[in-house]
Amino acid sequence: MKPKINIAIDGYSSCGKSTLAKSIAKELNYVYIDSGAMYRAMTLYALQHGYIGPDGVINTEGLIHALDLVMINFKYNTDVQQYETFLNGQNVEREIRSLQVSNHVSPISNIKEVRQKLVRLQKRMAETKGVVMDGRDIGTVVLPDADLKIFMTADNRIRAQRRYDELRSMGVESSFEEVLKNLNSRDEYDSSRSNDPLRRAEDAVVIDNTNLTIEEQFQFILANVLKKLGATENVV
Ligand code: DC
Repeated sequence: MKPKINIAIDGYSSCGKSTLAKSIAKELNYVYIDSGAMYRAMTLYALQHGYIGPDGVINTEGLIHALDLVMINFKYNTDVQQYETFLNGQNVEREIRSLQVSNHVSPISNIKEVRQKLVRLQKRMAETKGVVMDGRDIGTVVLPDADLKIFMTADNRIRAQRRYDELRSMGVESSFEEVLKNLNSRDEYDSSRSNDPLRRAEDAVVIDNTNLTIEEQFQFILANVLKKLGATENVV
């Protein structure tokens, strides 16, 4: 059997990390883990249970006390051939992509205890190797020993346009300006927050995909995977 590696993909919001991570995982027959979905599910929980007030103020202590009641996991849906996010047994894959969740997820993900819980889960999920995980701190905190680390970036207007198109295709109401504003503020917050901020791991390979097609990025990463595996032919 071929040895399996872990791949960490970090970068700014809406860089196409998940599209790429999914296609790489599929090609290699690896498991894709969307760590952002876990922070989104936690944010949805906080909204549903009143830990985020109508004014946006977070009851941090209340949420920390409730953390043991929050169960987040992924299940593979064979119909859509994708992992979907479950919060306490409920499929929340669609709800966690709403702008309401996007607007509150950054401060929720800066709560130390939230990160400790989710990072512990993420580390456990990657124990058996053969994982492609994307997020903000995967190469630096969650999987500092990942065999391959990718750091993605792209022009922010291009990213906002891609995100806007994606939301529209999912039937989620929004405007381009609203999406751009959310993206800029999340980038700013995620890069400057006190706990595990977004930063490039020193040993990460950087991809600026402003002018790259998905296929070009896919081939680039695949070539890096093959290099890591020391293979010259197809690894599947
Ligand atoms: O990848 P995403 O945009 O769905 O992530 C949503 C938010 O979750 C993002 O703005 C910051 C936070 N996040 C994080 O703090 N650490 C991660 N590993 C992944 C996401």
